[in-house]
Amino acid sequence: MEKKIAILNGDGIGPEVTAQSIKILNAVAQQYGHVFHYKEALIGADAIDKTGTALPSETIDICLDSDAVLFGAVGDPKYDNDPSAKVRPEQGILGIRKALQLFANIRPVTTYSTLQHLSPLKPALLEGVDCVIFRELTGGIYFGKKYTSEDGNTASDECYYTRPEIERIAHLAFKYAQNRRKKKVTLVDKANVLETSRLWRKVVQEIATQYSDVTVDYMFVDNAAMQLMINPKQFDVILTENMFGDIISDEASVLAGSLGMLPSASVGNGTAFFEPIHGSYPQAAGKDIANPIGSILSAAMMLDHFGLTAEAEVIRDAVDWTLENNFVTKDIDPMNFYFMSTIGDLISDYVSGKIPGSVK
Ligand code: IPM
Ligand code: MN
Repeated sequence: MEKKIAILNGDGIGPEVTAQSIKILNAVAQQYGHVFHYKEALIGADAIDKTGTALPSETIDICLDSDAVLFGAVGDPKYDNDPSAKVRPEQGILGIRKALQLFANIRPVTTYSTLQHLSPLKPALLEGVDCVIFRELTGGIYFGKKYTSEDGNTASDECYYTRPEIERIAHLAFKYAQNRRKKKVTLVDKANVLETSRLWRKVVQEIATQYSDVTVDYMFVDNAAMQLMINPKQFDVILTENMFGDIISDEASVLAGSLGMLPSASVGNGTAFFEPIHGSYPQAAGKDIANPIGSILSAAMMLDHFGLTAEAEVIRDAVDWTLENNFVTKDIDPMNFYFMSTIGDLISDYVSGKIPGSVK
């Protein structure tokens, strides 16, 4: 198979984690006879420094011309405490989501028995947790009308949704649930207060009738935030709007033990987009100490998307193998850790069959 992959390194640890994924994709290509063509493009604070904008039009063109995008991270502390900044690194990621119409962000939350001790939750609560968050990604309050009054003392962000925006992600979530063990969709909303949530509930109730093999339940977001901590096993597919999904998915990463572990895939009408859920972690940039697994598992999701499921599975096996053998980064074991590039090399060796027993 031959594929074009756009590489958006971005800021902070972005370039380093992405470099590990490329190493592993190259090992996959070599081992299974595929050809991956990479093309780098600028985004985030890096793009602002070099071009004055967080999302140069060339970046959009390169992504549109690719089969998939591998994204690192954006964000730089120098923008965070300046509310009046006109250009911000985050405009890069929000803009590319919109440009590629990436309306669904899929965030699987897997727990590993070897990492249970890292979670503040009791092991008994974590055993068997297996849920996937379907976060709407191109609508809602993130993209509604924004307003600040001239005197700067009043501001508003509109939360806006249309039926088709809800329908398209709901169908994806229900179809996905059909192939899962529990076959359950939980819509997370705030339908007791918000009109947009009532629209979500109405549309999802209608769509649910087309998927009689899937059970559906509805949960207010405040309760869902609590349920994720007291009984995370009850969830299978969580379907939710943009901002609730952003918040709930960071919370859910606590179940996995480290934010650095979680991958995601964003899909839409064309080029799909793969990114770890973590941010740019500027304190660790250039130190080779961040966790590359979120990016590496995102690359595995990319291979799944290409239909290369055996290749994706071997990467996931390799990740399990590193965890079982304590080949972990500093976030997992601050006293006894390996460098990110070593983990990348080990996973790449595993994929290449250089670790005894790794190729079945
Ligand atoms: C995420 C991030 C982004 C978001 C930021 C960087 C704009 O937190 O991907 O979850 O809020 O969507
Ligand atoms: Mn987030």
